[in-house]
Amino acid sequence: MASKQSQSFGIETDAITLQRFVLHEQRKFPSATGDMTNLLVSLCTAFKAISSSVRKAGLAQLYGIAGQTNIQGEEVKKLDVLSNELMINMLQSSFTTCALVSEENDEIIEVEAGRQGKYVVTFDPLDGSSNIDCLVSIGTIFGIYKKVNPDGVVDQKDYLQPGRKLVAAGYCLYGSACMVVLSTGHGVNGFQLDPSIGEFILTNPNMECPKKGKIYSLNEGYAKKWSKGVSEYVRTRKFPEEGKSAMGQRYVGSMVADVHRTILNGGIFLYPATTDAPNGKLRLLYECNPMAFIIEQAGGAATTGKGSVLDIEPHDIHQRSPIFLGSKDDVAELLEYIQKYDN
Ligand code: AHM
Ligand code: MG
Repeated sequence: MASKQSQSFGIETDAITLQRFVLHEQRKFPSATGDMTNLLVSLCTAFKAISSSVRKAGLAQLYGIAGQTNIQGEEVKKLDVLSNELMINMLQSSFTTCALVSEENDEIIEVEAGRQGKYVVTFDPLDGSSNIDCLVSIGTIFGIYKKVNPDGVVDQKDYLQPGRKLVAAGYCLYGSACMVVLSTGHGVNGFQLDPSIGEFILTNPNMECPKKGKIYSLNEGYAKKWSKGVSEYVRTRKFPEEGKSAMGQRYVGSMVADVHRTILNGGIFLYPATTDAPNGKLRLLYECNPMAFIIEQAGGAATTGKGSVLDIEPHDIHQRSPIFLGSKDDVAELLEYIQKYDN
């Protein structure tokens, strides 16, 4: 979709907002009801409010200038709790969802009968918990499924669907700028928040993960607990054979930031199994699947080491999975090591 790039007084007069982009995409499907557009617009409202809180925009409101209580004398809500409430409230009031799965809630959240719609949304409202308080980039991750039987009551079949069934997924990165990266199954597009108008504007159309990258990304503190395959892969990134160059290493410790860099610059992100966490750490429904969907849509790959992340049949809303994702060639190279040493 082309904008006319017309500007006046430094203001883009024909910018492609996220809403405009999705409306345009939905028009390609004559049966589309506009629900997906409404759902995504509601999500964007939550992202803007989360971004504002992450940037401590209402500092006085949040802290009462000093201390842990706000000016009403209420205890300050932690950012992850606040983000979760925003996501739930915006999604429930959009009239487009029937069930929500959040990292912050042990149980599934069923939307009340009068407000139900046809989508199931899984999300991690504020991912990167260890980075929240030290002002390092964090993000929200989401996945959207269609209810299997549109007329029946919500059940496991609806919220335990494999990632292959995602109809849309993405994340919002609260970094040096705020950006939504979204796929509705036709490639990946990035929208940066223009705070002057409060809209997400298409800034990164058709994002593609390079076929091969120069950066590997994982927490090396757990090296002692990796499988031989992962250990050998990482070792040979640092000490490659004659004639090959070593890879660089970057690890933010916020999945959204690490995956975003991997899409833009290429390379590989790893969160493997360890001896004390045989399924790794990251959660399938609202961390691994949405990111695997995005990376595949961007031309990259995502694997558990044994198969595609998106093919796992989930059995629990909070189950974990090892994950390796990024540039196709880098993931293929890792798999050679896993096949040689681990299988
Ligand atoms: P969280 O959901 O508690 O925030 O944990 C998920 C985060 C990811 O963003 C990140 O990739 C990973 O945990 C970092 O874990 P570690 O500190 O073990 O490296
Ligand atoms: Mg998380």
